[in-house]
Amino acid sequence: MTIPHAPPVRHVLCLAGSLRRDSWNRRLLRVAAAHAPATLHLDVCDGLAAVPMFDEDLELREPGGPAGVRSLRAAIAAADGLIIATPEYNHAMPGVLKNALDWLSRESPEGEVLVEKPVAVLGASAGPWGTRLAQASLRQVLHTCGALVMPTPTLFIANAAGRFDEHAALVDQATGLSLQRFVLAFEQWMARVAPALVRPQAGLTIVR
Ligand SMILES: Cc1cc2nc3c(=O)[nH]c(=O)nc-3n(C[C@H](O)[C@H](O)[C@H](O)COP(=O)(O)O)c2cc1C
Repeated sequence: MTIPHAPPVRHVLCLAGSLRRDSWNRRLLRVAAAHAPATLHLDVCDGLAAVPMFDEDLELREPGGPAGVRSLRAAIAAADGLIIATPEYNHAMPGVLKNALDWLSRESPEGEVLVEKPVAVLGASAGPWGTRLAQASLRQVLHTCGALVMPTPTLFIANAAGRFDEHAALVDQATGLSLQRFVLAFEQWMARVAPALVRPQAGLTIVR
């Protein structure tokens, strides 16, 4: 008798590029996490709030950076992939997200966590263009950091406010379906570019 192998479960860290409590981008990530297939575990992380402004002097004082940087880096290292949902501020990604990527791009005792990390990028904005320029700026930085950024499908969610009800539930079915397709495509992208699963090391913490 052959015992069927359980399919591998990939762990994905989801990061919203917004500190706003009611962020559309974080809400979308929560919807994606709630509807992920059994083979994917999506963890929505609030780690940006604990990341101070990048300063090379701080980096010299604390190898690997301050605690907020180290825990975000550890959470990314322990994940098979990273999904970033970015708002658009003045036609680029928000400063808090760029700041975190600057920290994460640096060498550390844990290595450079973005190098060869599968990453998917999406975004929601209140305006009609759905973060096209923010995502372009984010992709450029991620490529520079050596991440393996999923080229397609793209997901630009415009007029975000109209897609949720007053209780923050997603009411736009088309957005929900696009989100599910996006997550499935990312699962395939991870299997293609990084088939070996990350084995989390003991002691690493997920920031929430
Ligand atoms: C400083 C600032 C600049 C903004 N610039 C843009 C922009 O260039 N394009 C756009 O579509 N929306 C812009 N917005 C509106 C954001 O899309 C909107 O605040 C969005 O809800 C932020 O994402 P969040 O809900 O995840 O926090 C801007 C908002 C702020 C605060």
